[in-house]
Amino acid sequence: MKYLLTITLASLLYCCTQPEKHAPLVEDTAHLRDSSMAPFYHGVASGDPLYSQVIIWTRVTPEDSLPEVDVVWEIAADDSFQEIIKTGTVTTDPGRDYTVKIDVDGLSEGQKYFYRFHALGKSSMIGRTKTASIKPQNLMFGVVSCSNYEWGYFNSYGALAQENLDAVIHLGDYIYEYAPGGYGDTTLGRSPIPNKEIITLQDYRSRYSQYRLDKDLIAAHANHPFINIWDDHEIANNSYKDGAQNHQPDEGSYEERKNIARQVFYEWIPIRESDQHYRKLQFGDMADLIMLDERLERTFIADSLGDPTLMDSSRTMLGKEQLLWFTTQLKVSQAKWKVVGNQVIYSYLNWGHEDFTINLDSWDGYPIEQQQIADVIKSKPVENVVFITGDTHTAWAFESTNKPFDEYNQETGEGAFAVEFGTTSINSANSNESYSDSVVLVHENRITDSPVNPHLKWTNMRDHGYMILTLTEDRAMATWKFMKTIEEPSLEIKEVKNIWMNSGEVKLQSN
Ligand SMILES: [Fe+2]
Repeated sequence: MKYLLTITLASLLYCCTQPEKHAPLVEDTAHLRDSSMAPFYHGVASGDPLYSQVIIWTRVTPEDSLPEVDVVWEIAADDSFQEIIKTGTVTTDPGRDYTVKIDVDGLSEGQKYFYRFHALGKSSMIGRTKTASIKPQNLMFGVVSCSNYEWGYFNSYGALAQENLDAVIHLGDYIYEYAPGGYGDTTLGRSPIPNKEIITLQDYRSRYSQYRLDKDLIAAHANHPFINIWDDHEIANNSYKDGAQNHQPDEGSYEERKNIARQVFYEWIPIRESDQHYRKLQFGDMADLIMLDERLERTFIADSLGDPTLMDSSRTMLGKEQLLWFTTQLKVSQAKWKVVGNQVIYSYLNWGHEDFTINLDSWDGYPIEQQQIADVIKSKPVENVVFITGDTHTAWAFESTNKPFDEYNQETGEGAFAVEFGTTSINSANSNESYSDSVVLVHENRITDSPVNPHLKWTNMRDHGYMILTLTEDRAMATWKFMKTIEEPSLEIKEVKNIWMNSGEVKLQSN
């Protein structure tokens, strides 16, 4: 009897220590993977650099639907990992879509680091990152927005990967939510996944997975820390606190969709997680980078210039709390440059089309708050404020002033209180997708020469690419780099434009 019992226990033990069988992990983006990168097909990423901390990120994709995967991470001072500064193990699971995010601390300021991951017997590619400097001689930020997989190749990300930068500031529209053909060039074979507008948790996860399997975006993330903020398309077009233009009642609860979009953004983006998305990153005495959330705190977008709520003081882009936080950051900043990571255009702009003049989705649709910010900057006064802006798929340079421009001298810049540099899109459509270059050039000249936009110094509504913001003791310079094409893979840059302001003067200059 005893003998039998022993056998039974032994067989039970044997049965229970057998590796559990799991179903294969089936993903609709699997055909886009580079098998040589298994199981770290999505590469590596880093973000939100502080003086002694940086986020590192990866995603592990097991062949089977494992309930958990252990991932070892390492960060080193050299790319051969002879001098490992820190290492650890974390566990990921399907609850966070097998993504891995570590906020590595105890690092030195202004240092370059290398990092990698190990799991399931394999190693990831090596990523490069950098902590913020306390006393930088200069700072170089890549500034980007609006990448739409279907509109073309991510050549701009590929070229950006090769730049020597402190960080990349991503101002949003990192993904787009549309169904195939909803907003894109369907001739290029870059149809969005899944094959529908994204609404559910799995939809958003698949869309991020597709974008993050793009080799150019993988290269950009692997080479630079990113500082991301969402715009509207990470949720749905023209989103605000309680709704979105592209969310209909038959698509379910907006609140639920917003929460899903937020969850997946935090899973896939190398961002430090917090209840409040707006935040400040400091780069010593050179720059404070103030990242604003201009979507999910805002009240609804006005229908027209005749909307009776337009001048209502309850109309808000930032919400009371964020507005107070922002204006306080401007007032207390000791840094030379106050850089505002801004999604939609802050400066007044008349687009000059017969059927479209003022964009009520931008700060012009929130005029009371727009003025309150101007008043804070002018009354303190706060020097050297640089708005960097995404959203419009167009490059811009403004000397920011208030209407009716009666205090502004467009020759000397006197009366302007800040500058605004807008980056064009990585590849989302602008005027060039609808009209020839010559037609668009005529319009660019018309609106920059127009007396209704005396403070608009330059624009390019034709091209795609990225901007580099270079900050030194003496000046803040925007350099726009425009790609030759987005219709085939190519890292060729066809044109470069520089515009800058000298410290203490709001007067834009160019060469
Ligand atoms: Fe966009």
